[in-house]
Amino acid sequence: MRANSRDRQWRDRAEAVIPGGMYGHQSTRLLPDDYPQFFARAKGARLWDADGQELLDFMCAYGPNLMGYGDAEIDAAYIEQLRHGDTLTGPTPLMVELAERFVALVSHADWAMFCKNGGDATQMAVMIARAHTRRKTLVMARGAYHGANPWCQTRTAGVTPGDKAHQILCDYNDVASLEAAVAQAGDDLAAVFAAPLKHDAFIDQALPDPAYARRARELCDATGAVLVVDDVRAGLRVARDCSWSKVGVAPDLSSWGKCIANGHPISALLGSDKVRKAASSVYATGSFWFQAAPMAAALATLHRVRHSDYLEHIEALGARLREGLDARATAAGFKLKQSGPSTMPLFLFEDDPDIRLGFAWCSQMLARGVYLHPWHNMFLCAAMTTADIDETLDAAEGAFEAVRHDPSATTPNARLAFLVA
Ligand SMILES: Cc1ncc(COP(=O)(O)O)c(C=O)c1O
Repeated sequence: MRANSRDRQWRDRAEAVIPGGMYGHQSTRLLPDDYPQFFARAKGARLWDADGQELLDFMCAYGPNLMGYGDAEIDAAYIEQLRHGDTLTGPTPLMVELAERFVALVSHADWAMFCKNGGDATQMAVMIARAHTRRKTLVMARGAYHGANPWCQTRTAGVTPGDKAHQILCDYNDVASLEAAVAQAGDDLAAVFAAPLKHDAFIDQALPDPAYARRARELCDATGAVLVVDDVRAGLRVARDCSWSKVGVAPDLSSWGKCIANGHPISALLGSDKVRKAASSVYATGSFWFQAAPMAAALATLHRVRHSDYLEHIEALGARLREGLDARATAAGFKLKQSGPSTMPLFLFEDDPDIRLGFAWCSQMLARGVYLHPWHNMFLCAAMTTADIDETLDAAEGAFEAVRHDPSATTPNARLAFLVA
């Protein structure tokens, strides 16, 4: 970070009036020093930081940017609805149209409820599962992220053991571990709360093993528990349906958020008839949950999802990126591990436990105008082009070369020292 940069100045001002200067998943606290904290604007696949540096953005706002920042059609739908009204005394009919559109798109869904953040949707899923079963225990995969509510976060500050009671953890894709957790829950199993794929931070991603997904369905059917798939992060980047449709498994509930309105604030919980009565029995609401303008944006986004080749486009770009990076890393003598769906890639280096090499390489990419994340899965958006991928590959070639001469690539990474402690 340049000492006299605008970003530095904003950070100094933030320190005075924002706890920690910044909080949550968009904090740069665990990123290399030169990563900007503040951004000025975005368009398509590009971001401009507070100092005006243009960056090809592979984070896509941590997911919400699916069709491109500032998409003309989607934003026009949003703005048009703003003119008519947004937060009103009741919802507009757009809510019904949006529920109909989701039910038509997502094969397991018979109904939809809308909220704001992904964490609202996962919280509602827990309540509905418990209301339906009149039981308490959740089986979840160790390390899976389901939001920042106290019941599912991994930090301990401000979280009580009671907040996290009635949970049993299993290992993702490990059928025996899932079976053991379900057995341990005994007659109190409310839900198997599943991630659509293993997309935990700091480690390689893993696609769902169909046998694991099928066993989760069977165990829920056998015990009367509810199967939840948390598609907040992966939704619409894996399938035009719930992500587990790819492995032939239909959940009872799926949670959605992030990209469903291309960055406008709305999330959703979708469910089958099995849990409809329970869904109507829980008290779930928020002052802004019925905003009409994000619903208009979601309708426009889902229209694009249904009627464009956005998914095939980002899959092709992701494959091009993966192959090109493999070739360049190998040519430069680096062992790059690429994991997850090509539309949500993660790049880690082999034998790099404190991600020092990852930090050095990502910093070199940033200097070349490409914003990557060293330890969190990234996201592709439909506004990206083949030329953007080729620009990234050119940058990667230079970055691999530069890393050879970068002393930080061989120096312990103090920022992520906890990974090797
Ligand atoms: C899988 C998953 N579930 C839930 C959430 C929580 O979503 P939000 O941050 O919008 O509350 C996230 C956020 O990253 C997520 O990745």
